Amino acid sequence: MITSREIRLKSRLVGMPSADNFELATVSVPHPAPGEVQVRNLWMTVDPYMRGRMADRSSYAPSSRSGKEVPGGAIGGIAASNSTMYGWRPNFQVGESLQGGAIGEVAASDDPRFKVGDLVSSWFGWRERFNAPGDSLQKLDTSGLPPQAFLGVAGMPGLTAWVGLLKIAMPRPGDVVFISAASGAVGSVACQIAKLKGHTVIGSAGGAAKCAFVRQIGADHVIDYKVAGDLTGALLQVAPKGIDVYFENVGGEHLEAALAAANPFARFAICGMISQYNTVGLPSGPRNIMFVMGKSLRLEGFDIANYLDLMPEFQREMTGWIREGKVAWKETIDHGIENAPAAFLKLFKGENFGKMLVKLG
Ligand SMILES: NC(=O)c1ccc[n+]([C@@H]2O[C@H](COP(=O)([O-])OP(=O)(O)OC[C@H]3O[C@@H](n4cnc5c(N)ncnc54)[C@H](OP(=O)(O)O)[C@@H]3O)[C@@H](O)[C@H]2O)c1
Repeated sequence: MITSREIRLKSRLVGMPSADNFELATVSVPHPAPGEVQVRNLWMTVDPYMRGRMADRSSYAPSSRSGKEVPGGAIGGIAASNSTMYGWRPNFQVGESLQGGAIGEVAASDDPRFKVGDLVSSWFGWRERFNAPGDSLQKLDTSGLPPQAFLGVAGMPGLTAWVGLLKIAMPRPGDVVFISAASGAVGSVACQIAKLKGHTVIGSAGGAAKCAFVRQIGADHVIDYKVAGDLTGALLQVAPKGIDVYFENVGGEHLEAALAAANPFARFAICGMISQYNTVGLPSGPRNIMFVMGKSLRLEGFDIANYLDLMPEFQREMTGWIREGKVAWKETIDHGIENAPAAFLKLFKGENFGKMLVKLG
């Protein structure tokens, strides 16, 4: 019998997560039943949003208009019918295996649409191997890109940057665009798209190496928020005429600085607020929120689950940019399913540089 190791939630997260919140388990994986495919995972992603699903409170994505249902079926013995693809995200259950994006290779198939060796993307990360109905898998055409790019620059994080910038913030010619967590999976793509569209870009990141990368991918100004001290002052120094767009990934002090530096009618794409995710109790709100009214600002949050229908259009554009050498990206790769929890924890300590991935198999 073939076995697979998987990561389960051992206890709900309160405050900063730790390795003790996770456990490694081994399950047997039988031959796939009729209509099922057995997949050996090659890559899995860890993403900040997963933290919300590990806590008691609901994820920052409580509902979705168009979240794509993962068809039902038993995956590693756990019914998947209640799960969704980036959509409505119920909390992970203690004692059950976690879920998330993954790229794998078909190891056995009882579905004529899939043959051994096919590359597939799925929602069944955090495990080495699984059986799933063919309908819950997507064949992956990598268009010559490394497969793991479809968990980052050409996948959900890239789409998030593209949607947040172009569909939510909708920059106008001449706009000054400020992007936080600018060296990360989402932020680095947002920076490059904003530059491709001809905007002045200001990126913030933590540390000299990350700031050098943000500059290398085209940002006109970079703020190392860890040494900036007064972030509002630092932002106004590089944007003396103010900012017109803010791509929000961090929250807290960053949001206050963006509100202070915003020009009238500036647009904020509220993508994430990672500085607040581990707060116990109520997250801190921006003390200068009244600028929203005084400056006629538009702050719009978005959940990428509601924009998955744009993935093909995004991927066509992004793979074109990558082929033309117009978009670059960084990855931090940890190895082995047993190290997936540690990889996840890195996101909240800034220990990832670019897309955080775990290589399996
Ligand atoms: N709305 C959506 O549908 C959607 C979809 C995907 C992602 N997101 C959000 O987008 C943001 C970025 O996600 P990602 O996957 O691209 O992660 P990422 O930026 O690749 O990694 C997280 C980064 O956040 C920064 N960070 C962590 N704690 C921080 C703190 N306390 N203060 C300031 N910065 C901190 C760190 O960078 P530094 O070293 O530079 O501090 C860290 O490397 C997150 O807020 C995430 O929740 C939203």
